[in-house]
Amino acid sequence: MALSKAALATATPFSAEIPLPAHRFMPLGPFNGRLRVPGDKSISHRSIMFGALAVGETRVTGLLEGEDVMATAQAMRKMGATIEQRGDEWCIHGVGVGGLLEPESALDMGNSGTSTRLLMGLIASHAISARLVGDASLSKRPMGRVIEPLSRMGANFDAAEGGTLPLTIRGAQPAVPISYRLPVASAQVKSAVLLAGLNTPGITTVIEPVPTRDHSERMLKGFGAELEVEQVGGERIIRIRGEAELKPQRVEVPGDPSSAAFFIVAALIVPGSDLIIENVGLNPTRAGLIEVLRQMGGSIDELSRREVGGEPVADLRVRHSILTGIEVDPAVAPSMIDEFPVLFVAAALAQGTTRTSGLDELRVKESDRLSAMAAALTLAGARVEETDDGLVIHGTGGDPLPGTPKGAAIATHLDHRIAMSMAIAGLASREGVEVDDTSPIATSFPGFISLLEGLER
Ligand code: S3P
Repeated sequence: MALSKAALATATPFSAEIPLPAHRFMPLGPFNGRLRVPGDKSISHRSIMFGALAVGETRVTGLLEGEDVMATAQAMRKMGATIEQRGDEWCIHGVGVGGLLEPESALDMGNSGTSTRLLMGLIASHAISARLVGDASLSKRPMGRVIEPLSRMGANFDAAEGGTLPLTIRGAQPAVPISYRLPVASAQVKSAVLLAGLNTPGITTVIEPVPTRDHSERMLKGFGAELEVEQVGGERIIRIRGEAELKPQRVEVPGDPSSAAFFIVAALIVPGSDLIIENVGLNPTRAGLIEVLRQMGGSIDELSRREVGGEPVADLRVRHSILTGIEVDPAVAPSMIDEFPVLFVAAALAQGTTRTSGLDELRVKESDRLSAMAAALTLAGARVEETDDGLVIHGTGGDPLPGTPKGAAIATHLDHRIAMSMAIAGLASREGVEVDDTSPIATSFPGFISLLEGLER
């Protein structure tokens, strides 16, 4: 995509050396034309991990080259895998299930909960120890939810107070297969247990009362693991046979629906927009936002539905729409768990009131996303009430938000999705929205600001 000089000049560089690169996101006019968002973060992490456990060469195209996925790649290298970029492909030579080496130094997980929890699962059934460290945001996040089942499988943990990073894990060999019913709807916990099951003799079972993203299941099968999923009385029972052998694959990573979400909402709330977002992953366990925005009256059409890398994909045509507030069914939450911050922005511009509930999990993401978004939207002039488990948002009916006052900035709390959501709010504001720190955006969406500000109009 051609970028205007102005867009390049205003794009904030993503550099760890520049402290708190603040940015004021101004209204830019309607969105037209076409764009592509980077590869899916969940699938990218898994393609590196599974490739690193397969014997032979796995090749991945469309990999998300964000900081979170690079943290996974660096950790897998430290445990013996060879991972290199050749042109637009990433090539991975794995060590085989059971073959992970003990890392010589701490594994730096940066901001990435997915890297941390999935790698804890992998390490749990290998005869190695590892120390895991992370940034200030990750070091507050609960790891007890994976420590508990992985301890039952025989792994040992020495974690900071409250079950957080930094922690040391000592894997068990052989580990013990368990049957585990998920107490929270979490794809990371599910995946941690399944990945530990890969090198555990016998059958490891995870029971999922509420379905969550199923990329681990789809991809492990694709890599040749014996994994089956049974539906019993509304629950999903997932069984994996251990001491698996993974075969190298070619993986084509579809565009990330969680990244597309920012542009979907931008096109819906900015008058005159008519935008096509190409190659968006539409796995039903991830597509809740589109359903909710359509219920609010959003015009989102799926063009040329197809399969990419075993996942349903389409190009999305999104047109400016008058949105109406709704009561969001909490049952949809797991299929849009990362999209609530930007849904709150859409709600702030809708007619009437949007009520959300059942969102306790948002309090333990990269930030407490309920309080961070309540504070952020309030600062930008929206009318928001925070409840125990959700937000109630009274929309403007389509009028722009006032924007953040001069000298005040949204607090991002090291959370990429707060920064990007409030960037979108800035597009539908009178005075713009100042975000205190745009550097976390690079964890999941490098190039976001250039793409946003350089789009054809
Ligand atoms: C992810 C699962 C979700 C999601 C995260 C990615 C994954 O976390 O929020 O961004 O790739 O498995 P939880 O499992 O904690 O809900």
